[in-house]
Amino acid sequence: MPPSTNQSRDPQRSDSGNDPVRVAVAPDGAPSWMADAVVAGGGHVVPVAEAEALVWGAPMQPAAFAELMDDARHLRWVQLPFAGIEHYVEHVDGDRQWTCGKGVYAEPVAEMALALALAGMRGLGQYARVQEWSRPQGRNLLGANVTILGGGGVTESLIRLLTPFGCRITVVRNRVQEMEGVDEVVEADRFIDALTGADLVVLALALTPDTEGMLARNEFELMEDHAWVVNVARGRHIVTDDLVWALENGVIGGAGLDVTDPEPLPPGHPLWALQNCIITPHVGNTPEMAVPLLSERITANVRRYARGEELLGPVDVQLGY
Ligand SMILES: NC(=O)c1ccc[n+]([C@@H]2O[C@H](COP(=O)([O-])OP(=O)(O)OC[C@H]3O[C@@H](n4cnc5c(N)ncnc54)[C@H](OP(=O)(O)O)[C@@H]3O)[C@@H](O)[C@H]2O)c1
Repeated sequence: MPPSTNQSRDPQRSDSGNDPVRVAVAPDGAPSWMADAVVAGGGHVVPVAEAEALVWGAPMQPAAFAELMDDARHLRWVQLPFAGIEHYVEHVDGDRQWTCGKGVYAEPVAEMALALALAGMRGLGQYARVQEWSRPQGRNLLGANVTILGGGGVTESLIRLLTPFGCRITVVRNRVQEMEGVDEVVEADRFIDALTGADLVVLALALTPDTEGMLARNEFELMEDHAWVVNVARGRHIVTDDLVWALENGVIGGAGLDVTDPEPLPPGHPLWALQNCIITPHVGNTPEMAVPLLSERITANVRRYARGEELLGPVDVQLGY
């Protein structure tokens, strides 16, 4: 996959010759491999007050991040750890460069999407639950109509994984462009059209005000009654109560969820008991899978920043992802 890149470089950096990039790794307690990744890219790890760049190492601590940024207006570049930046987007400004983990975790997350799709469509969730020889069920992924919401890193990897299945693939994305291995690319405001006729709908898109709650009762009613929904993006894309209704009433075939709303999904939640629902606890990329991938991205970006080159995984300030 070609890396996504920033449009603008940091003019201050391109003037600074061969100086090592001064990078803070925060907050205190951020894993030491992050500092190692900075050093591997030729950077110097320094306190925030002396830094020109920041690697943020605590994905679920947006309040600590806000506090740090109040005193760190001098930072020229901030690297966030996750692909989804919904907890950080309010701080993203045009005063500096922002990069995130978009595309970093694409391969393991796409693998999880494929696993959930196959397990769901071939009935493995139900076969695994019962303790008796049960009746045949399931549909092929082979040759299926697949709609993928989102056209970023995860989607690119999933399209490649789906190649041997000979699916007819439709991608819905914000910025329509030709995509290899895709039969049709549909613009975001026509996403409803892409739900009709799909045997499988995969959510692999950014969470924004436009995409929150985008699958609800009306959308499920438009879908095929055998269709499986696989969500590896964020739980809040789906209205959970409406999903429960759709699953309980056979409005859709089933759901494979790596992410849920609420998350973690509490014990006793109706989704756990539904035979046509397979839930994994947000493990599209486990920490073991994520560390080498993010480490590589940090190293690459420190190196690029030092050379005044475009950074990988840029956040678009206007779009908010
Ligand atoms: N389950 C997990 O463990 C896990 C791990 C990593 C990531 N994730 C989630 O997966 C998401 C995708 O990851 P990624 O690496 O592929 O991110 P990415 O490269 O940033 O892709 C995000 C995609 O969302 C699309 N998008 C934005 N608004 C849209 C809309 N209204 N309708 C349709 N598409 C829209 C964008 O379209 P354009 O490209 O056309 O602008 C882009 O292709 C992340 O945002 C994150 O929430 C989950």
